[in-house]
Amino acid sequence: MVRKIILDCDPGHDDALALMLAHGNPEIELLAVTTVGGNQTLFKVTDNARRIATLIGMHDVPIAAGCERPLVRTLEFETPPYGETGLDGVILPEPAPLVEQHAVDLIIDTVMSHAPGEVTLVPTGPLTNIAMAVRKEPRIVNRVKEVVLMGGGYHVGNWSAVAEFNIKIDPEAAHIVFNEPWEVLMVGLDLTYQALATDEIAVRIQGLGGSIASFVLDLFKFFHKAYQNEPSFEYPPVHDPCTVAYVIDPKVMDTVRVPIDVELSGSLTTGMTVADFRAPAESNCHTRTGTKLDFDRFWDLVIDAIDRIQQNIKKGI
Ligand code: BDR
Ligand code: CA
Repeated sequence: MVRKIILDCDPGHDDALALMLAHGNPEIELLAVTTVGGNQTLFKVTDNARRIATLIGMHDVPIAAGCERPLVRTLEFETPPYGETGLDGVILPEPAPLVEQHAVDLIIDTVMSHAPGEVTLVPTGPLTNIAMAVRKEPRIVNRVKEVVLMGGGYHVGNWSAVAEFNIKIDPEAAHIVFNEPWEVLMVGLDLTYQALATDEIAVRIQGLGGSIASFVLDLFKFFHKAYQNEPSFEYPPVHDPCTVAYVIDPKVMDTVRVPIDVELSGSLTTGMTVADFRAPAESNCHTRTGTKLDFDRFWDLVIDAIDRIQQNIKKGI
């Protein structure tokens, strides 16, 4: 069965891997790639998405730029997570074309032109575009199959003690997305911290040979540098592709149904995703979180996608 998705992203090294997995896996039909200001400015992350598209031979998927800043706050931080370009440390080809339509409109049109339950939204950046789309066209809530998002966490934060980057950048947007009555799967840090780019995985990717494999190894090098001063990580985690992997194969992670809400006004906790595990979730609970990753299943999918992309490029597809 083909899974139709819209990937809303801010590349970003791990967003790049999510894009590659979505493009390289035959069970995913990537309907659109939309971008949002997050890891870097909207211009830079959009440029990165377009260049990755050229690199991996993704010619027929519309790419649209969306919101450049969060709903209420400004997009400002001292150290951007992935450097000045948003994708430091790799060399990329010329950008693929950009469609003129705004990402929010492309999301709405794409969802509304498909049958209910057909399209899954996969946001891997701040949730600004998704929140805007819901406010502009609330009927998408009943039409979307599920929102499988990278963001949040129930025990840890990375952009504050308790908040994860994507949620912390635009907590108001996240609040909207978590509170609409659609199915939301939070693929948060508790889960993505298990998706480690180990030496063994790097060796397997190296074994594929080829330019895309070597691009991925350059991404890995950047991840390693970024986490070298974090003693709790022997290897760096790759967050965003975990979402796409779940859509391809739900067995890739265990999930738990639990009410989740987003803190908006805590002086220390703004952007925290608060999951209430105290009692079994009620039957109308529409939020879940990923808990345990099947490491081998996950990396098999990613490595298979890299291999397929390389084979397709060779065949001129
Ligand atoms: C998330 O933040 C971004 O920097 C990454 O691309 C990922 O989406 C991890 O907290
Ligand atoms: Ca991201």
